[in-house]
Amino acid sequence: MLNDIKEVLYDEGQIRAKVKELGETLSRDFDGRNPLVICVLKGAFIFMSDLVKEMPIKLEIDFMAVSSYGASTKSSGVVKIIKDLDASVEGRDVLIVEDIIDSGLTLSYLIDVLERRNAKSVTVATLFDKPARRSVDLEADYTGFSLPDEFVVGYGLDYAEKYRNLPFIGILKPEVYEK
Ligand code: XMP
Ligand code: MG
Repeated sequence: MLNDIKEVLYDEGQIRAKVKELGETLSRDFDGRNPLVICVLKGAFIFMSDLVKEMPIKLEIDFMAVSSYGASTKSSGVVKIIKDLDASVEGRDVLIVEDIIDSGLTLSYLIDVLERRNAKSVTVATLFDKPARRSVDLEADYTGFSLPDEFVVGYGLDYAEKYRNLPFIGILKPEVYEK
């Protein structure tokens, strides 16, 4: 599996430090608001679990799954809810936890859904961002790292469901998905 990685962009220690820093900032900003923290499955599962451990405030968590790229590396532009929230967001301060923002289509759809369900506020924290690939005008409120326009895997992110378990974020060798 490690042979398929062209380059490590951020290692385990760098990610841990960034997640801790984000957790501290978010704790300060959300203290006393009992936020509903939403993990966007599957990619955000590792970030979410590491992040909430750095947030020693009262909060609740929930999960949502939306359609992703499947075995391709490009967005289809079609977003579908595969698994919906258990909790109601009405009147809640909602914090969306995303792994990566690419075109921004997934996120703009999610924000729209949560606002239509009358969330009190919708805030977005993403660990990774690929700003060069945006097709809608949208920025996260909190961003960990900006990445180059390359397909990345690890720390929750996959290619064809593999590589999510890598503890770092790295660039996949193109020959892995071109063959
Ligand atoms: P959009 O384009 O809607 O995409 O902002 C967001 C979702 O696409 C996935 N994505 C990636 N997954 N490596 C991955 O493993 C990547 O480089 C990558 N870029 C986008 C991801 O699921 C994200 O939530
Ligand atoms: Mg995702």
